[in-house]
Amino acid sequence: MQSIKGRPIRLLLSEEEIRRRVSQLAKEIEDYFKEPFLVVGLLKGAFVLTADLIREFSLPVQVDFMWVSSYGTSQESQGHVRIVKDLDRDIEGKRLLLVDDILDTGYTLQEVFRILQLKGAEEIKTCVLLDKKERRKVPFEADFVGFEVPNLFLVGYGLDWDEEGRHLRGIYAVE
Ligand code: IMP
Ligand code: MG
Repeated sequence: MQSIKGRPIRLLLSEEEIRRRVSQLAKEIEDYFKEPFLVVGLLKGAFVLTADLIREFSLPVQVDFMWVSSYGTSQESQGHVRIVKDLDRDIEGKRLLLVDDILDTGYTLQEVFRILQLKGAEEIKTCVLLDKKERRKVPFEADFVGFEVPNLFLVGYGLDWDEEGRHLRGIYAVE
């Protein structure tokens, strides 16, 4: 059995399930945008999903990354985000897709969404691979969701537990 920091991990979503779903999501997203748009990935968690999504698109999208860290405990954010790395380019008047690994309390995406609006984006759609709906503390929903998942601590496909586990090809629950 695989483990992280001495704790066993159990497979929740296989590499193949994720690949199929990401490919479907990419089609839904392109059907929506219809013309090239900007993809904004949130570091570090969304770097794997962002990389897979953009290679499924047939539209020539541009990509930028933002790195925000949330105040709070290591396992739960609490409403304030600090920008560690801002976007490289101006987004005034742009249509963009904001990508994150997982929607949990909702604080991070709600706050980043607000920041991108203030920067003058014309339109912002959001995409997450995973949605822990029952954990929501603020009423924020993503436009494109890969999988609804139960309230478990998950690692893999970019998601980490204290920087461990991002490299795993599937999504695993830490037992
Ligand atoms: P939110 O602000 O609570 O919605 O938190 C979103 C962020 O919390 C994600 O971008 C992840 O970095 C982190 N997070 C939430 N749940 C998990 C998990 O199960 N495993 C790893 N990171 C998580
Ligand atoms: Mg994260």
